[in-house]
Amino acid sequence: MEHYAIAIDGPAASGKSTAAKGVAKALSFLYVDTGAMYRAFTLLMLEKGKDCASREDALSLLPSLEIEEDEKGRIYLFGKDVSSRVREDDVSKNVSLACAHKEVREKMVEIQRKMASTRSVVMDGRDIGTVVLPNATLKIYQVASVEARAKRRYEENLQKGFSKESLEEIKQDIEQRDKIDSTRANSPLKQAEDAILLDTSDLTIEEEIHEILVLFHKKVGEETWKHLVPSH
Ligand code: CDP
Repeated sequence: MEHYAIAIDGPAASGKSTAAKGVAKALSFLYVDTGAMYRAFTLLMLEKGKDCASREDALSLLPSLEIEEDEKGRIYLFGKDVSSRVREDDVSKNVSLACAHKEVREKMVEIQRKMASTRSVVMDGRDIGTVVLPNATLKIYQVASVEARAKRRYEENLQKGFSKESLEEIKQDIEQRDKIDSTRANSPLKQAEDAILLDTSDLTIEEEIHEILVLFHKKVGEETWKHLVPSH
């Protein structure tokens, strides 16, 4: 059976994961949250008292690393569910440093490609369309104004209790992370040449999901679409 892949990349808190989850549900594809994997590795570095900016420190933890993601997008570090823990401030502030090391990225990309090799997936991150799945069926580069993104993350944090940071602090964190992510040497955040730009500043999550499904429908054509989504 043919496998399909939808790659969604974009800057911090642009709504990728919520949209990706909704799209995956509608198509019965596996959702893969690659950010959660980098966050889990960052948590390990912090727990071991390592310096996230140090390549040597990162390398010392890589060989024994066990990271898994389940069907629901929950993330496990050495078998322990750390899905909520990895959203807390200490991890958010350090993840862009810990994930910039070449060897860390190679290891994660290997896991991510394996996940996409046996099933159709919706995968979100920073380098999915450019590095991880260059042959993805559909590539989306999702952006939103920094104000819209900070507001979304602030409201999500309030709801889920991940952080007590003010709107302004969150905005600064996001800007800082975007800067590191887009200027790093190894697979920086950038739009793939064949990715479709989607500005979600003024879209609701339902509109965003709908937009991506319409684009996917156009890409695969009517026959495949009917096969994947029989009720439509
Ligand atoms: O949800 P949010 O946009 O805040 O971030 P995330 O998707 O959980 O990703 C957290 C961080 O992991 C990003 O800021 C990047 O530094 C890094 N990341 C990456 O380098 N490559 C990916 N494919 C995914 C995330």
